[in-house]
Amino acid sequence: MLNLILDLDTGVDDSIALSYAALNPEVNLLGVTGTFGNVTTDMGARNALAVLAMMGRSDVPVFEGAYHSLTTESFSPHDVSVRIHGRNGTGNVVFPAAERSVEKEAASDFLIRMMRQNEDMVIVTTGPSTNLASALMKAPELSSWKGRVVIMGGALTVRGNVSHFAEANISQDPEAAKIVFESGLDVTMVGLDVTMRSRLRKSDAQAWRATGTEAGKAFAGMLEHYILNTIGGDDTYVHDPSAVVCALHPEYFSLLPLALTVELDGADRGRTVGDESRILEKAPKTRAAVNVDSGKVEKELKIIGEYFTRIS
Ligand code: RIB
Ligand code: CA
Repeated sequence: MLNLILDLDTGVDDSIALSYAALNPEVNLLGVTGTFGNVTTDMGARNALAVLAMMGRSDVPVFEGAYHSLTTESFSPHDVSVRIHGRNGTGNVVFPAAERSVEKEAASDFLIRMMRQNEDMVIVTTGPSTNLASALMKAPELSSWKGRVVIMGGALTVRGNVSHFAEANISQDPEAAKIVFESGLDVTMVGLDVTMRSRLRKSDAQAWRATGTEAGKAFAGMLEHYILNTIGGDDTYVHDPSAVVCALHPEYFSLLPLALTVELDGADRGRTVGDESRILEKAPKTRAAVNVDSGKVEKELKIIGEYFTRIS
């Protein structure tokens, strides 16, 4: 059983990643922490609560975190995020509102508390790394924490998706990502190198809708919006769910040990690269996923459709 915390900017692929984790019998989902990114932090947290309710997992606590990056004073979603994830983060499909609210504790405090209690745990971030960086800034001793971190973000062997070099999650808060990569924590980067190799398809959406369930129909509409506004063909990338699959099944991925850092300046801002100042390190604590058995990732995600069938 994998003890897991998900740190999400709950848009479309975050919702699918959350569903996969919430429905997976191999996962003990300890909590969800929310950040800005695809949507504002409060909207993302509401989406997480709504998704958990649809998955029958209203037992999982949700915590609100950073409202903006470490170097900014405010945040509003970028036009491209609104197009891809819809105005509400769920592809403009209106999910039934959850009948509960977020917890009072701040996301970074929850992360600190859980890291102190539990070394046998994985934190998966699928948005900007701000909550985890804030936790490390508040409690620097946690850099010796023995658990694992898996980050959906970055691009090592392919171009970025917001600039030539930068991927969206890293680009939203490069300083935070740099803190996490250089912290000494055990970090696996699941970037565009692998997330673009696996696919969710229109046929998945059609099968979800065919279950006739409210949840299946809502998820189908959300996925179809995402497919249309990302690639625009018959399928789309599997960004955030790939990170959760990697947390559970690192053996599905080719992992390159590398002392990772993030460029902060100029046209390279937000670029994830190997840090030449640490190139002699014999056993780097960070690694980048550079290839994946996409068939295995796609098979894992069948859990979601099976749930819709089960409740129909
Ligand atoms: O670059 C892809 C990432 O950006 C995903 O996490 C997506 O949800 C957006 O946040
Ligand atoms: Ca995300």
